[in-house]
Amino acid sequence: MNIRAAVCALCLATGALPGSAKEPVRAQHGMVVAQEPLAADVGLAVLKNGGNAIDAAVAVGFALAVTHPSAGNIGGGGFLLVRLANGQTAFFDFREEAPAKATRDMYIGPDGKATEDSIYGWRSSGVPGSVAGFDLAAKKFGSRPWRQLLEPAIQLARDGFPVSKTLAESLQEEKHLATDPESKRIFLHNGSYFHPGDTLKQPELAATLERIARDRSNGFYEGETARRLAEAMKAHGGLITENDLKNYRVKERAPLTGTYEGYDILTAPPPSAGGVGLLQIVGILAGTHYQTDGPDSPKAVHWEAEAMRRFYADRSEYLGDPDYYNVPLKMLLDPGYLARRRASIDPDHATPSDLVEPGLPKAMAAHIDIRESTETTHFNVVDQQGNAVAVTYTLNNSYGNGITVPGLGFLLNDEMDDFSAQPGVPNMFGMVGGDANAIEPGKRPLSSMTPTIVTKDGKLVMAVGAPGGSRITTGVTEVMLNVLDFHLNAQDAVDLPRFHNQWKPDYLNLQRGFNPQSAKILEQMGYRIQPTGGVARVELIVDNNGTLEGGTESRLNGKAAGY
Ligand code: DON
Repeated sequence: MNIRAAVCALCLATGALPGSAKEPVRAQHGMVVAQEPLAADVGLAVLKNGGNAIDAAVAVGFALAVTHPSAGNIGGGGFLLVRLANGQTAFFDFREEAPAKATRDMYIGPDGKATEDSIYGWRSSGVPGSVAGFDLAAKKFGSRPWRQLLEPAIQLARDGFPVSKTLAESLQEEKHLATDPESKRIFLHNGSYFHPGDTLKQPELAATLERIARDRSNGFYEGETARRLAEAMKAHGGLITENDLKNYRVKERAPLTGTYEGYDILTAPPPSAGGVGLLQIVGILAGTHYQTDGPDSPKAVHWEAEAMRRFYADRSEYLGDPDYYNVPLKMLLDPGYLARRRASIDPDHATPSDLVEPGLPKAMAAHIDIRESTETTHFNVVDQQGNAVAVTYTLNNSYGNGITVPGLGFLLNDEMDDFSAQPGVPNMFGMVGGDANAIEPGKRPLSSMTPTIVTKDGKLVMAVGAPGGSRITTGVTEVMLNVLDFHLNAQDAVDLPRFHNQWKPDYLNLQRGFNPQSAKILEQMGYRIQPTGGVARVELIVDNNGTLEGGTESRLNGKAAGY
């Protein structure tokens, strides 16, 4: 029984939730949804000046590297998914790569145990991909001069911008920034901290962005930037060399495609596990009528959580960089296989994770707490022509490894932690893995990032994605289903408290504010409930027959900017 639906069946039908105060932002021509308002406005200005969605996305990407330093970056990597109004699609994989000197056991200490070097210190960084990714996307699909896309970011870095309350708090909380002298100087005001309204200027970052504006990605991967980065790496025992930087290439991959209830889904292929997860979950749900009692009913949550559990078991075994590991994509998305997974779900009881194995038998156990306060960022752009872009990019941890390259002004990622350092040993998100995601030089670590675009009959329905570590896949899938199956408007779809099950550890995480009556029933069904502050931070644009609706996390400082 669904209490919420019983209370407000009409609300569900109309897409309004009881108590939901925030209407989605609506626009007719174009929209940018991002996690930081200044960067969203940069993208909106590009659209208003006639730039297309790809131009705007690149400008937002560089602007976030200045205004949202916890996750916006040029020292990290990510994925950019494009769908043009004419139906053409592209996926740019600019994920970080293990340096040539990386080795499988580089994070195993003398005692045979995994160390924390994949998270802290200079050896935690993969070769950054963001600048190359934006460069190639702009070259292929952009319409504006490259420099124009960099100019707003350069200005924000050079002249500074007012520190928001959100940024001031985030910088104060991030203790590891204080352990790196350059990060402390730039981001912590030398230890006296930034307060809301203070101006944050980043002249070194402005100079680096200037070189990129002048020489495109060569301004990052060669010349002064590359030399200084490699020198700093060498001085501190890091692995990235000038050659690693010079050899970095964006990989253009075919987006992963699937269908669900008449919708066409475009999503992230490996080395993301996210797209496989999203398609497995909806593939298992198909035909179950899981949605009859409403989105937060025990029935819906049970079916979704069991589908999630089965996906995460497969993730631990079968997913990795497809250029290094033969990912059995066909098997993982085969309708017959998904039907068998569906048939293994007991409609009335949770299945203990110890009884769920990756498609082929293998037992692994990990009972750990998952860290909550880490960051990535996602933004969507839709332009007047109906071209859509979904970008998720990251430094992995909040502010990456906390190290700012001296003289260059940007933070480094700690993406190497997304590899499986040792079979069965969980990473910071509790993810376990084995050979498929073991470290090899040049390999890209397995990701959960799930930029996704949905269409129907050739028309855009939504662009969606999120940060949130291992919870990205489930958060994005839930919000997508909130629109497709539960017909919530974009803002309600994002605001409805979410849930998450990742197989190991065997918990059902329920976001603060989750329907308490449903929680009680789910517990009786055998779920080990664990409350959580949030399940990913989802950003959404829905195209509702020509009207764009933006949904952005009310809990955060995001902005849907439209015109
Ligand atoms: O690629 C991944 O899956 C992770 N590096 C994402 C990290 C993340 O989302 C952290 N924060 N919220």
